[in-house]
Amino acid sequence: MTDSEYYSDILAAAKYIRSQIADVPDVCLVLGSGLGPLTERVTPISTIPYESIPHFPKTTVAGHEGMLLVAELSGRLTFIMKGRFHYYEGYSTSQATFYVRVMAQLGVKTLVMTNAAGGINDQMKPSELMVITDHIGLFCDSPLRGPNLDQFGPRFPDQTLVYDVSLREKLLESAKELNIPLHQGVYAYTRGPQYETPAEIRALKTLGGDAVGMSTVAEAIAASHSGMKVLAVSCITNYAAGISGQPLSHEEVMQNANASSKNSIALMERFFSKL
Ligand code: HPA
Repeated sequence: MTDSEYYSDILAAAKYIRSQIADVPDVCLVLGSGLGPLTERVTPISTIPYESIPHFPKTTVAGHEGMLLVAELSGRLTFIMKGRFHYYEGYSTSQATFYVRVMAQLGVKTLVMTNAAGGINDQMKPSELMVITDHIGLFCDSPLRGPNLDQFGPRFPDQTLVYDVSLREKLLESAKELNIPLHQGVYAYTRGPQYETPAEIRALKTLGGDAVGMSTVAEAIAASHSGMKVLAVSCITNYAAGISGQPLSHEEVMQNANASSKNSIALMERFFSKL
C-alpha cells in the first residue's frame, strides 16, 4: 500500500464514522483486558462494528471484541474502542495504529489506553494497576516507518513526553480519592505472542522496565505523533516470567484482569468525571 493510499483510507474511515454519529467526541478510551465490562455501565449513543468501518482491521483475539461505541462516560462524550489490534496477530504496526490516525482525523485530542501486563518490578503485583510514565519500545517496529504523514506530525518527533503529565496527575488524584493503589512505572514492549523467557525479563529489568506487555507502545507513538495527549494504564495480571518461578498462562492473565476490573472501571469513571 502506498502512503497516499494509507492516508486516503484514514479519510474514508473517518468519514464513515462521522456519518454514523451525531456529535463527535474528543476523547477515545481503548479497553484492554478486564475493562470490557465497562461497556455494560454505559448506554451507547452509537454502536459501530469494526467490520462496517472501511479499511478497519478485524480483531482476532478471544476477549477482544471489535466494536466502536460512542457513549457518555461520567458525563463525557467518549469514543470507546472495544477491541484493538496487535502486532502479534499479524498486523503491521501501521495497521495496528490505523484507528489512532482515524481518531486523530476525527478531532480526538486525548487517547486513554488500558492493557494487561506482567509485573517485572517486585512492587507490581497481580491484579494491581500501574499508570505508564514512559516506555521501552526498542523492539517495536515504528508505526512512523515509511514516508512521513506530514498531515499529522513531524518526521522525527520528540519522545520526551509521550505520556501526558497532567492526565497522569488526574488519574493519580482519582486513585487517591477512591483508595485504589496505583503504581507508576515504565512499560517494556515485547512483540509476542509468546510470553518472555526469564532471561528476557532480567534483561528488561536491567533496561529499566517495571512491567511488560504486547500492546500500547505503537499506538502511543502514533498518537503522540498526531499531537494527541496520551494516558495509559496497565493492569498487572501476572508476575513476569521467572519472577515467581511459576509458569504463565493466558487463563491467569484473564483471571487477574477480571479480578482488577472493579478497580479499573471505578478508576476510569472517576478520571473521566475530571476531564
Ligand atoms: N508479558 C507480556 N505480555 C503480557 C504479560 C506478560 O507477562 N501479561 C499480560 N500481558
